[in-house]
Amino acid sequence: MDYDLVIKGGQVASSTGVTRADLAIKGETIAALGSDLTGKQTIDAKGKIVMPGAIDVHNHFQLPFCGTVSSDDFEIGSKAAAMGGVTTFLDFAIQSKPKSVMEAIVDRQAEAAANVCIDYSLHAGITEWNKDRVEEFPKIIEAGIPTFKMFMIYRAQGWQATDADVYRALREAAKYGAMVGLHAESNDLIDLLQEEIKGQKFPGCYAHAVSRPTVTETEAIARAINLAEATGGCLYIFHMSTGRAVDLIRDGRARGVNVHAETGPHYLLLDDELFKREDGHHFGTCPPIRKPADQQGLWKGLAEGVVEVMATDTCTFNSEQKSMWKGDFTKIPFGMPGIETLLPLTYSEGVHAGRFPLERMIEILCENPAKLFGMWPQKGSLKVGTDADVVVFDPDAKVTISHKTLTHRCDYSPFEGTKVNGWPVTTLVRGKPVVKDRKFVGDVGYGKFIKRQPPAKPVA
Ligand code: URP
Ligand code: ZN
Repeated sequence: MDYDLVIKGGQVASSTGVTRADLAIKGETIAALGSDLTGKQTIDAKGKIVMPGAIDVHNHFQLPFCGTVSSDDFEIGSKAAAMGGVTTFLDFAIQSKPKSVMEAIVDRQAEAAANVCIDYSLHAGITEWNKDRVEEFPKIIEAGIPTFKMFMIYRAQGWQATDADVYRALREAAKYGAMVGLHAESNDLIDLLQEEIKGQKFPGCYAHAVSRPTVTETEAIARAINLAEATGGCLYIFHMSTGRAVDLIRDGRARGVNVHAETGPHYLLLDDELFKREDGHHFGTCPPIRKPADQQGLWKGLAEGVVEVMATDTCTFNSEQKSMWKGDFTKIPFGMPGIETLLPLTYSEGVHAGRFPLERMIEILCENPAKLFGMWPQKGSLKVGTDADVVVFDPDAKVTISHKTLTHRCDYSPFEGTKVNGWPVTTLVRGKPVVKDRKFVGDVGYGKFIKRQPPAKPVA
């Protein structure tokens, strides 16, 4: 049989193993895996890894935040994603009070739909819990958005959820098998510590780290795990930054709490000494990047499967936007670029550096995000009949990361100058090449909204 496209002779990778095979595509789906397959078009993948496209579940494109709007919009952000081997991304529709969450979803979809080059979905961001939320909760899930985000911080911005709000959301989520994700930092502790260090001098923006020690994260995560335990709700910790938090997740899960966690390349590869640099505010994000001991704990958590997902929290602010901090560490536009370098950094520092095998990388970048966010096996797998979201990855490519050769709309990369082993060369989304030989060949607006299923079992 002649398929539309055959990717020939690559090392086809999944969480259960790596085998040499041809992968055939018909239309938008994977049609066969085997040997000597033929197609109208072929891609030679000898010496390359053939893997499911990566899924980045945490992005904030064109987000109005900290007095500006993040500079990677849906078009540039999704192009950058494709160039980096990401085939599906999740962004956030954050409720703008007093409007409903559903209104935020409709608005956000209108911003994204005509501009995305790869597939996408949204989490529902709740900034106000009341009876209206109880009513719209099942409607949001029905619309294909079964994952919610609440913020334990950002009180000043009007986004903060109280413990009671989180408790009620988790209790509601449990009924439907939905998941509540949290930005877990303690607003009270951060307020206190910011007040206490007022007037003290620190190099660069190091005060950002001093005012947010690890306890500001671990206290919030411990609290959240208790709430998930009490309600039976499914809990996800976004952008986890500390080694101690890995222990909390491990312990919680051991006693039966349905809790999951992500970390990102910046927490694994950057440390808080960077804040002391003149451009230290470029690295300002919440929670902050931390110390080498935390990096070790997070790497271990990933290798052991306690931390199940790598995601970037892409929220790009260029140097002009970042300069708005004007020496006040509380006013840094928080966030950094990252989606384009997620896969190469994870491969280079995870697999190539020997921290975990390729199979584990496929789990944390493809399979676990798809399963935990209700897209499995349509996304994140190379099973016959599923979406042909495929990346041909060259493990021998040597690349030095530079903002000049990245697609993102930013005049720096947090990983500037980092030498990586391995880079994606070809990216297909539902059978269509969107990147060929490291050149973008996709179409703006091609990406489609993915309706997702509740990831957990409803709790009676
Ligand atoms: O500092 C960060 N992480 N900015 C993006 C918004 C958020 O908190 O996720
Ligand atoms: Zn956050």
